[in-house]
Amino acid sequence: MKRYELRCIACGHVSPFSLRRIFCERCGDLLEVRVEASEVFNREKLLGRVNSMWRYVELLPDFRRPVTMGEGMTRLVRCERLADALGVRELYVKLEGMNPTGSFKDRGISVGVTVALEAGARRVICASTGNTSASLAAYAARAGIECVVLIPKGRIASGKLFQARLFGATICEVSGSFDDALRIVLGRAEEMGAYVLNSVNPWRLEGQKTTAFEIWEQLDGSLGINVVVPVGNAGNISAIWKGFEELRDYGLTDEVPRMIGVQSSGAAPLARMFAKGADSPEWVESPQTVASAIRIGRPINWKRAVRTVRSSGGSIYSVDDHEILEAMRLMATTEGIAAEPAGAAPIALLKSGVESGHLPRDETYVCIATGHHLKDPDPAHVSWNVPVPFEQYLERVTGRS
Ligand code: F0G
Repeated sequence: MKRYELRCIACGHVSPFSLRRIFCERCGDLLEVRVEASEVFNREKLLGRVNSMWRYVELLPDFRRPVTMGEGMTRLVRCERLADALGVRELYVKLEGMNPTGSFKDRGISVGVTVALEAGARRVICASTGNTSASLAAYAARAGIECVVLIPKGRIASGKLFQARLFGATICEVSGSFDDALRIVLGRAEEMGAYVLNSVNPWRLEGQKTTAFEIWEQLDGSLGINVVVPVGNAGNISAIWKGFEELRDYGLTDEVPRMIGVQSSGAAPLARMFAKGADSPEWVESPQTVASAIRIGRPINWKRAVRTVRSSGGSIYSVDDHEILEAMRLMATTEGIAAEPAGAAPIALLKSGVESGHLPRDETYVCIATGHHLKDPDPAHVSWNVPVPFEQYLERVTGRS
């Protein structure tokens, strides 16, 4: 048996159960799903279960047969050469690009679209920097319902726009930033009869917490680690932490990781807040960064993220664009694994963090590579490697002209 409660993240008030409610009926802040399960998985029970995040079904909203494409159970790759290059003891990269549409969003969207169907929705909507729109478009197609996405015009990576178009979503361009698009979605969804699947939706975050369950399973329960996550709207870092907390609450682990967030310095309201020791963020009105996935100036889940890093003993830092591109290169050329710029930001942070002494060298790090490298195949990201005529290469290696 399972029970769900919708609790406000700010005032703690429990709202009446609803699959559609996003905001607290008392104070208007965001809600969190509390699952009370009488039975939960353990490592033995998991043996032989489905090889997707739905193996953790005891802690997932399974109101009906899930809309799934086998999301989750992405590889956690040990990276010895990259660890040496960065000067850290041990490093793993979780390849979220292996999800069906190439990003971690598929975890949340699989749950979210399942819940939307249960709520009777026939139309789903999101604002997006690209990956959520690609994922929602695909899962809505699979569920046979309509998908509308609002994107900041001219600011999303080509692979992501291609996906949303291919999966048949209605794509509306908004002049302004992601933050403007999200404001429109939240203001207009109800009159459009559309079910909102941004990370304000508490059910969606339930899917994303499975990243934590997988890391626990893949590391054989050793969670004395640091988990480094790129932060945009700040839903994912909070969802992953919720997963670790649940493992602890259900007695499946004693230790929990330190959660470390990373933003790009041109879109770093939370990193700045932590650097200043302030109590609340100052919004960034026109965020700029090469990591378009996290080009966000007003992270709507900022309170969840602050709670996450404070209770786990971590922090949120920023890295510059050139450090992100260098991290992409380093990851790719030392390990043969790659990510879109936002997904490489954790590696950029490890490099600058150990050099500056903010992050200890003698520890284990798990970096979440949140999106596939082919999402954003911009030639400028590989300007350091230019194709040459074969004759020129031959001359170089043979020394003959
Ligand atoms: N990495 C990638 C590749 C993303 O696409 C996003 C968010 C993040 C990190 C940050 O996650 O918002 O939960 O802190 N992309 C959203 C989108 C905003 O619309 O695709 P977050």
